[in-house]
This record gives sequence, structure tokens and C-alpha cells, in this order.
Amino acid sequence: MLEDQVHSYDHGGDPVELGRLSLQADVAWAMERAQLLSVGLKPTDRVLDVGCGPGHLSCRIAELVPEGSVTGVDTDPNLLASARRSAAKLGLDRVSFERSWADGMPLDTASADFAYARFLLQHVGQPVDVIREMGRVIRPGGTVMVVDTDDGGILVHPEPSGLKELLEASQAGQAAQGGDRLIGRKLAHHMTAAGLEDVQVQVVPFTSSLVGTEAWIQICLGFKTRVVEDDALSVDRVRSTLDAVRRALQQPGAFAQTLVYVATGTVPR
Ligand SMILES: C[S@@+](CC[C@H](N)C(=O)[O-])C[C@H]1O[C@@H](n2cnc3c(N)ncnc32)[C@H](O)[C@@H]1O
Repeated sequence: MLEDQVHSYDHGGDPVELGRLSLQADVAWAMERAQLLSVGLKPTDRVLDVGCGPGHLSCRIAELVPEGSVTGVDTDPNLLASARRSAAKLGLDRVSFERSWADGMPLDTASADFAYARFLLQHVGQPVDVIREMGRVIRPGGTVMVVDTDDGGILVHPEPSGLKELLEASQAGQAAQGGDRLIGRKLAHHMTAAGLEDVQVQVVPFTSSLVGTEAWIQICLGFKTRVVEDDALSVDRVRSTLDAVRRALQQPGAFAQTLVYVATGTVPR
């Protein structure tokens, strides 16, 4: 039953979190578009976007497959409704959405060419099961691509006080809900364990120089503040740490980075 299960992503209907997803989709699209094309996405491909959320990427990918289709899958009915509205507004009738858990999708075996999951696996208790299920739906020789991050890649200079504690508390909070904030480094292992071949991982820096200070803070630290549990770090401590990050990054020459991991693998023939 969909309603009986939980995962570590809860937007809580908060417009700030929904705005964060939209900003994240906007600023990274040029890089992700290039990655999708470089790993061989074709205009005719039938694409599966697993954990599609509000469908920002499903709709953009549809532009890259003018003779194909996109199926978005997610558990969240509100995000799916928003995704359907966006696709309808853009007149994208080759994009459809299904409500389902990622580890058991109501889709036929070998019925698509390219599976994609962006910032999904960090929320999933059994990521190998999800990747294996993606591989089941993709035809032999097709591609599975997952994009995720890893808190080990977060650096801010000069280092603001409290940042280390915030990262540790959000890692613990997300782990308690079945997620993993250190998943980037494990993607090659998970893809291989799921039976994919030719597994490759690229790491792309995402910096404050590239997107600006405020966007970096919102995208890279915004969700973390939601998963911190009160008994680990108080709301006031979280707020003062974000202020400290902001002050640090306002100094001339300040710099912040995180790393985005892009892992691809091929379904065995
Ligand atoms: C951080 S959002 C990313 C949304 C979208 N991929 C993007 O990049 O904008 C994670 C999404 O994964 C969905 N999700 C988390 N665990 C899931 C699971 N086990 N099965 C299906 N969807 C899941 C959530 O509902 C949420 O929409």
C-alpha cells in the first residue's frame, strides 16, 4: 500500500522547498542536458524518470526526445498533480505520470530505453532494489542514469561555525528516515550490485561561483535543514548556522562547493 510506506523526502507542501526544487532544476539543466546527450540519449528514446517529483526534469527531457516519450514515476500525489499540470501547460502529450514506489513499478519489462533518477536514491532505504527495478523496465542494451550528491563534497571557505554539526545532524536525520546523504561515493557499488554493466561515474562540481551565494545556500543546505531532528540540533542553532554560512560567503574571495555524481550503466544484453 502506497500510504503505508514512508521515505525521507517530505516537502510538507512548503513553497520554499518546492521553489528549491525548481531552482535546482533551472540552474543545473545546461550541465544535465549535456550529460544526458553525452551518454547517448536519443530523440526516439522512451524515457523513465523515477522519483520525478514535480516533473521539472521530465518536461525538459521530453524536449530532447521529440520522437520518444517520458514516463514520470513518484509516490507523492500532490507533486504528480503539479507535474501533470506543467506538462499540460507545455502541450507535452508524450509525457505521462504514474503513482508508484520506485522498487515495484507498474511498467512492463524491457518497455523503455533510458531510465533516469535525479536526487531520488538519497531518500531510499534499499537503493540497489530501485536500480535493479529500473534495469528491469529498460530493454537489454539500454541505459540507467542516476544523479545524486554526497555531503562529503561540501566545502565552504572560510569555514562557518556550526556547518560541520549541521551536516552531521542532517546525515543522521536522513539516515533515521531510511535515506543516505553520503550516497554519491556508493553509486558505482550500487549500480554494479544491481547487475548493470559498463558502470561509469562522473563528478561535477557545483559551486557558489557558478550559481551565486544565495542559490548555492538554498539548493545545497535548504533540504538539510528540513531533515535535522530537533533533539540533534535546535531550530535556532540551524538558523544561526545558516546565518554564519551567509556571512562567510559574503566575504571577498569566499567559496563554496558541493559535488554532483552522475552514474551510468548499461542493462546486460
Ligand atoms: C528531492 S525530490 C527530486 C525530484 C526530482 N527528481 C527533481 O530532481 O526535481 C525526490 C522525489 O523522490 C520521490 N521519492 C522518494 N522516495 C521514493 C520511492 N521510494 N519511490 C518513488 N518516489 C520516491 C519523492 O516523492 C520526491 O518527489
